Amino acid sequence: MLLLALLLLIYLAPPVLSAPSDSPRDADVAQSGYVGSDHNIGPDSVSRFQHLWNITFKPDEKVTLGLQPNVDVQIVFTASTENVVRTIDAVTGEILFERQVAPPWPMAGANCDLISKNLGIMGTPVIHPEYDVAFFFVKSYIEDYRVPGGAAPPLNSVYYFYAVYIDGLGDVYKFPLFIDDVGADNDPRKIFLGGLVLQRPSLLAVGDVVYAGFGGLCDAFNYTGTLVAININTRKVNRWVTQGGPSSPWTSDWAKRHGGGAGGIWQAGMGLASDGQDVYFSIGNGGSADTNASIVPIQGKCHQDILLESVVRVSLNDSGVQLVDFFRPFDYLSDAGQDIGSGGVSILDPAVFKTSTTTRMGVATSRNAKVYVQDLDDLGGYRASANGTDAVLQTIHLNGEIFGGIGSYPLEGGYIYVNPSNASLAAYRFNPSAGKSPLFTLAGTSSASNPHCGGVGIVTVTSSNGEPGSGIVWVTDVERGLLAYRAVPVNGSLVELGLPTVEGAVKYGRPVFGDGRVYVVDGKERLVALGVGGNRTVGGG
Ligand SMILES: *[C@@H]1O[C@H](CO)[C@@H](O)[C@H](O)[C@H]1NC(C)=O
Ligand SMILES: *[C@@H]1O[C@H](CO)[C@@H](O)[C@H](O)[C@H]1NC(C)=O
Ligand SMILES: *[C@@H]1O[C@H](CO)[C@@H](O)[C@H](O)[C@H]1NC(C)=O
Ligand SMILES: *[C@@H]1O[C@H](CO)[C@@H](O)[C@H](O)[C@H]1NC(C)=O
Ligand SMILES: *[C@@H]1O[C@H](CO)[C@@H](O)[C@H](O)[C@H]1NC(C)=O
Ligand SMILES: *[C@@H]1O[C@H](CO)[C@@H](O)[C@H](O)[C@H]1NC(C)=O
Ligand SMILES: *[C@@H]1O[C@H](CO)[C@@H](O)[C@H](O)[C@H]1NC(C)=O
Ligand SMILES: *[C@@H]1O[C@H](CO)[C@@H](O)[C@H](O)[C@H]1NC(C)=O
Repeated sequence: MLLLALLLLIYLAPPVLSAPSDSPRDADVAQSGYVGSDHNIGPDSVSRFQHLWNITFKPDEKVTLGLQPNVDVQIVFTASTENVVRTIDAVTGEILFERQVAPPWPMAGANCDLISKNLGIMGTPVIHPEYDVAFFFVKSYIEDYRVPGGAAPPLNSVYYFYAVYIDGLGDVYKFPLFIDDVGADNDPRKIFLGGLVLQRPSLLAVGDVVYAGFGGLCDAFNYTGTLVAININTRKVNRWVTQGGPSSPWTSDWAKRHGGGAGGIWQAGMGLASDGQDVYFSIGNGGSADTNASIVPIQGKCHQDILLESVVRVSLNDSGVQLVDFFRPFDYLSDAGQDIGSGGVSILDPAVFKTSTTTRMGVATSRNAKVYVQDLDDLGGYRASANGTDAVLQTIHLNGEIFGGIGSYPLEGGYIYVNPSNASLAAYRFNPSAGKSPLFTLAGTSSASNPHCGGVGIVTVTSSNGEPGSGIVWVTDVERGLLAYRAVPVNGSLVELGLPTVEGAVKYGRPVFGDGRVYVVDGKERLVALGVGGNRTVGGG
């Protein structure tokens, strides 16, 4: 233990005190979507919100697709597809430091140009709250590294794991780490080649381990979804593939689409979730591994070499990442645009969302227009209910696909919120004594409907000192910008709170909260700050 403490002092800056209003990651560790009561934001202050400042980035640069800023001690930290990281004064909008950490990979070498001209950092970074260090994964390249052709061939693209001090943006000693060219712990044949994958979900830090999910890049090549876990003290890197072992697909032809079995970790950018110990996330289409044949029930705790269209719980030990439990919808449809991998897992506050028989609940979503409420200690396996359907606590049917996932509010009885495309934002109220009646029942919807396509935002919820009536549900809409609603519906309606107009929003965007202010990337790739004008400390209420 002494050695560990010394290492921390050598490698990382002296601890700094973080403020309660900091947001050192995308939403909360559990991905419940409730980011607490410490932001000094309530319906009253929101009614006085103004545009405080905005920043336009470089023309080809996308601070986009979930690359929201993280806020730490009144500094907004941003990262971008150009591999530029910045610190910005949260009050004035002044850029304090700016650094391009590595050249981004030119996307012309990919089979698509979906994202931007160049590809760099995509997953929202995580800030270690004790050391004020930001961690993130950087897509770059090494010219002629594996094949001739300079930077462009996908095989010459690589990933680095960076650790930079928030103060000044300098590298932490012995970082970055090069993470390519090593096989997975659970299948040494599956060599991690950064050019064939994309790090999209927001990062998760649990203790001294940073977790990141990797999925397909334009769904091309021979990739397999990978969870990378890095201990920031020992710098040990563990790689776990969603499909591992001799029976899983593998090919030496890097260009063969789905030759590695796919099973990407994407979640429309939503973060990986943790209960403080284990990690929960979802896995997409199984590509060539999906032989489609079996309707035989499988218990969730049975080991699976091949995972696809599943929610999983994994645990890290000295041997690497271990599968603990899984759930796959009985009616899953691979490659039909209806996958469960489009959204992440939300772990609900166990102090509120519990019944006499279930102590911990999670919620997963799907493009198959369903919300699955699960027992976190018994995710459900595959077709494991008595009649061969889903062994989950509740299935909520929706009118539209979900990307990203749900949000929750653990106060005033408890609510969850879903924000499907082509449908309204909806609130479901928790019923702790559910027996014959369902656990969650529809309590209200917003009057406006989301567009069918375009990237609906992930729900985030705040309150002011936990006071009844102070809960606010925040969502982004690619057309209507940032929207806020009272968390508790009135007579079946979610009541919208007026906000200054934000001109659209980035796809799957999620706002970030500081002290009395909210930050969001708008539809023109601008970082926009809203809040009560004037002084730093603003009242809640
Ligand atoms: C962005 O800031 C500029 C001043 O820097 C201001 O003129 C403009 O109105 C702002 N735009 C929005 C959408 O707030
Ligand atoms: C993809 O192909 C490369 C060789 O080009 C190989 O090293 C890697 O292990 C393969 N990955 C999968 C998942 O098949
Ligand atoms: C799965 O079954 C459907 C319907 O029979 C079929 O169209 C599809 O090609 C199958 N997929 C795979 C990967 O075998
Ligand atoms: C890690 O967990 C797996 C699965 O429970 C077990 O087989 C293995 O022995 C464990 N390794 C260590 C070092 O504890
Ligand atoms: C299977 O059982 C569940 C209750 O356990 C029920 O809600 C569902 O409708 C049943 N499905 C079929 C296809 O019978
Ligand atoms: C959108 O929703 C409407 C009403 O629920 C439905 O009729 C329509 O088919 C949906 N469109 C798409 C593209 O899902
Ligand atoms: C809700 O509905 C009830 C019954 O129709 C009505 O008395 C009450 O005023 C409504 N409340 C609000 C806030 O609209
Ligand atoms: C901010 O606070 C200072 C000192 O408390 C005060 O002098 C100043 O007038 C305040 N400014 C605004 C805009 O409220």
